[in-house]
Amino acid sequence: MKAMVLGVGAIGSVTAQCLAGSEEFDKVILGARNPEKGKRLEKKIGSDKVSVVKLDASDVSAMTKAFKGLDLVCNLAIPRFNFEIMEACEKAKVNYLDTAWDIAIDKTPPGGVVEPAPPSFLYLKKDAAWKKLGIMGMLGIGCDPGLSNLFARKGADKMDSVKEILIRDGDNGFVEGYDFAPLWSPETLIEEVLMPATYFKDGKYRKYGSFENKETFDFPDGVGKVPIYNVAHEESETLGTYIGEVLGKGCQYTDFKIALGDEYVDAIKMIGKLGLDNPNKIKVKDVSVAPRDVVNAVLPDPSTLGHLARGQCAIGAVVKGKKDGKDSGYYGWTSLDHKKCFDQWNNSATAWSVGVPAAIGAILFAQGKIGMKGVFPPEMMDPDPFIKMLPKFGMNYKEKKL
Ligand SMILES: NC(=O)c1ccc[n+]([C@@H]2O[C@H](COP(=O)([O-])OP(=O)(O)OC[C@H]3O[C@@H](n4cnc5c(N)ncnc54)[C@H](OP(=O)(O)O)[C@@H]3O)[C@@H](O)[C@H]2O)c1
Repeated sequence: MKAMVLGVGAIGSVTAQCLAGSEEFDKVILGARNPEKGKRLEKKIGSDKVSVVKLDASDVSAMTKAFKGLDLVCNLAIPRFNFEIMEACEKAKVNYLDTAWDIAIDKTPPGGVVEPAPPSFLYLKKDAAWKKLGIMGMLGIGCDPGLSNLFARKGADKMDSVKEILIRDGDNGFVEGYDFAPLWSPETLIEEVLMPATYFKDGKYRKYGSFENKETFDFPDGVGKVPIYNVAHEESETLGTYIGEVLGKGCQYTDFKIALGDEYVDAIKMIGKLGLDNPNKIKVKDVSVAPRDVVNAVLPDPSTLGHLARGQCAIGAVVKGKKDGKDSGYYGWTSLDHKKCFDQWNNSATAWSVGVPAAIGAILFAQGKIGMKGVFPPEMMDPDPFIKMLPKFGMNYKEKKL
């Protein structure tokens, strides 16, 4: 099969490396805005299956041309371009997957109800049209979203009804030599942490303020007790509907919390207070520049930091509900050590844990094990084939009964 990995940053690098090493893909084309960066990745992977094309994810007609004849496009650029990339996939009739979507387009204030629906549904409403076209749109298949949704489904499958799903992302990692250096798309991280956080309660998607509901969560596998906060995230935009209504488990509450060290919280709050997250261009002396692009430019490129990352991460889902009339609960998670991951796979755990599930989604699709058409979130897939393939890439799934 032929795939394009569009976006050759931290995550795209991992997915491309995994696909190039798989039996299922004989051609892996790197779609790079900056072909030099694509060439560097091609060299790093060192496989004759890999080639590079210059491609801008904002250019629908160039993408449509480039996608023709492919079996799958893995969108690993930034979420701002998902609509354009999906439009090109529709025109070229090519299957699609991504690991994130543009949650920032929703402007509901803290305390508000998201009406009529969160951004996820702008993509998901393409379902019927994509089924008609006979193509697949697998949304949000990274670590979280991605494995987190699949682990939530795994827990929900063990219960007759679900009361709540809590996605918990724990990481005590740091980058040696840097005070502030995100290990994945800095602009996406800053954006999602500063915006109001979506949660689902009693059939409606709602908003908390940013950095609300701080608590300590005791994560397993070396992460330990760390502060976590509600943050805007994709899982909170689908699990309530898909596990609750589509799969009929009746879920009443979902939210997402992430571990953020105090220094990170202070730095991101300061970026917000100073307006340095502004995506619109302002005039600075003789140039016009968006403050957000300046912040992005001064931060190190996440795809170059893997060898300096230390610490552990554990990402998972707590699912509570009822089984045979009794209270039931499961916590399912995956964990990685940043240094061990880099030593074995030449990538940071952050990038590896996101790029691998995307690659597994692509491989399962190529094997015919995911035959679904239309546009769907991860929880609509059987989690077991994913969980079974994780160890092949040095990843794990662990579970405990609560
Ligand atoms: N589900 C999850 O668990 C999860 C976790 C982390 C990240 N993600 C998602 O993964 C995606 C990639 O993140 P990352 O960490 O790899 O970020 P990154 O290292 O910043 O890489 C993003 C890549 O997108 C490319 N890009 C940006 N605009 C483009 C355009 N117009 N045309 C073509 N390419 C463009 C960038 O090109 P340049 O190299 O030229 O800048 C860069 O190579 C993002 O959507 C992010 O939200 C998902």
